[in-house]
Amino acid sequence: MKRNAVKSRQWFETFFAGLYGRVLAGQIDPARTRRQARLIKRVLGLRKGQSALDCPCGQGRLTVPLARLGLKMTGVDLTRPFLAKARRAAGTSHVGVDFHHSDMRTLPFDGRFDAVINWFSSFGYFDDAGNLATARAAWASLKPGGQFLVEVINKSFLLSHWHNGRDEVINGVRIVNNHRMDRTSHVRDTWTMSRGGRIERRRLCMRVFNGTEMRALLKQAGFVDIRLLGHSAKGAGRFTRHSRRFIAVGRKPIG
Ligand SMILES: C[S@@+](CC[C@H](N)C(=O)[O-])C[C@H]1O[C@@H](n2cnc3c(N)ncnc32)[C@H](O)[C@@H]1O
Repeated sequence: MKRNAVKSRQWFETFFAGLYGRVLAGQIDPARTRRQARLIKRVLGLRKGQSALDCPCGQGRLTVPLARLGLKMTGVDLTRPFLAKARRAAGTSHVGVDFHHSDMRTLPFDGRFDAVINWFSSFGYFDDAGNLATARAAWASLKPGGQFLVEVINKSFLLSHWHNGRDEVINGVRIVNNHRMDRTSHVRDTWTMSRGGRIERRRLCMRVFNGTEMRALLKQAGFVDIRLLGHSAKGAGRFTRHSRRFIAVGRKPIG
């Protein structure tokens, strides 16, 4: 019975716990995170005092800098140790942030936010119905006129730069991975993470999108005025199929 319960767990319930926590913390330096927070605020045209949901918020990497920019922030994540770390980071920075444990497909908010932010390859974790449910949950959480922002890798770029067997060290964790893409555009990846004598092997399965597919999904979820921007370490610019990453923004209609 117990073995079956473990077996049926979804990849995203286990992937982020353990050594990946160190990888996430070390992947983007604080100065770049602050630039990303300013970029998000600018792209969404948010003003001080407006409310935003960072979902999923991870360890509060962006939630806290966004709060420091004057936004009323709420953060949601599924990984409890990340939420504990995020709460500590908010305390250290003396900003008030509401953190909640929830699945991004079933959010407990109704028409509450000016913006919902899904940043850093945090979209596409499910099958098509689950990914649509994620966008619909964001839609339901927004006030009329509110905006949903998604930042992901561009499938077109990924396909034209496909290479396997990454081997790198982030924050003291060696990561070796192997991936393939299936016919439903899900990247199936195995990450072997090691540090000292500890070795963890984790599977990941993530739907990747090109601009057209993301636009269609957001439209299906009810968003209008959908725009796409290319995104790189230099900031946001024109989106093309060559953009490595992109930002998609959709608006919940008024009335
Ligand atoms: C790549 S991290 C990005 C975190 C954050 N947006 C950032 O930029 O640092 C993805 C996050 O998704 C969270 N997550 C995974 N599955 C989830 C789910 N079903 N519902 C809510 N959060 C989830 C993980 O715990 C992890 O914190």
